Amino acid sequence: MITIKTAEEIVKMRAAGAVAAKILNAMSEYADVGVSTYDLDCFGRDLMVELGAQSATFKYPGRVTPYPAYSCISINDEVVHGIPSKTVFLKDGDIVSIDVAVFYNGYVGDNTRTVRIGNVSKEVDQFVRVAEEALDLGIAQAVAGNRIGDISHAIEAHAKKHRYGILRDFVGHGVGKNMHEDPQIPNFGPPKTGPMLKSGMTLAIEPMLTLGSEKVFIADDGWTVKTVDGKLAVHCEHTILVTEISPEVLTLDKK
Ligand code: MF3
Ligand code: CO
Repeated sequence: MITIKTAEEIVKMRAAGAVAAKILNAMSEYADVGVSTYDLDCFGRDLMVELGAQSATFKYPGRVTPYPAYSCISINDEVVHGIPSKTVFLKDGDIVSIDVAVFYNGYVGDNTRTVRIGNVSKEVDQFVRVAEEALDLGIAQAVAGNRIGDISHAIEAHAKKHRYGILRDFVGHGVGKNMHEDPQIPNFGPPKTGPMLKSGMTLAIEPMLTLGSEKVFIADDGWTVKTVDGKLAVHCEHTILVTEISPEVLTLDKK
């Protein structure tokens, strides 16, 4: 069942989105050469506490163990759900996706950005940019009267144009009182299919693209999703509100 948020819930979703965005923004600025992914996660956790938000990923149930950190930090060939580590330090040329999902006054804001550390090659720079464009193109389809497949197709078309791989096993999702609500939002599929979008739906749209094969596996830690061929992956995400006219991005940092 896809929930339609009331006017009051939308106010709360806006607030949750703004807080999630503020934390992601600050973590993105903190991410630099020599910083461990553990320190980056702690920095995010401290900001959550300061702002009155709770991590939605910490202790999230998994197949093997609950998720152990306050954000997901995935470097290079890690696609999503990377676990912060005291022994992994960001280095020049890395790309690191920082995924921040928080509860704030009972509602979830969920957003992700892939940050370039130091200098990245032209090829990598373009890869990250195309994923961001794909997200924007997907978001642009999130208006009442369109269908989920229109979002999926817009993302797929842009990724395919640039010959990037698209993850099959992980998808975007509805978001609200829970981090994961209906519907699922694949990053591929035919337009004009799937559930009809209605004003008041709140969705987390999140393209996950690869520079090579789209095949992935889950590492021994039970969480980290990595590309089978070791090539780079990129992930970006916004929580948005469907309206009649144009989608409203809820995870914008309104300084
Ligand atoms: N923000 C991620 C998502 O979009 C978080 C999932 S990680 C988990 O689903 F640990 F919480 F599962
Ligand atoms: Co999400």
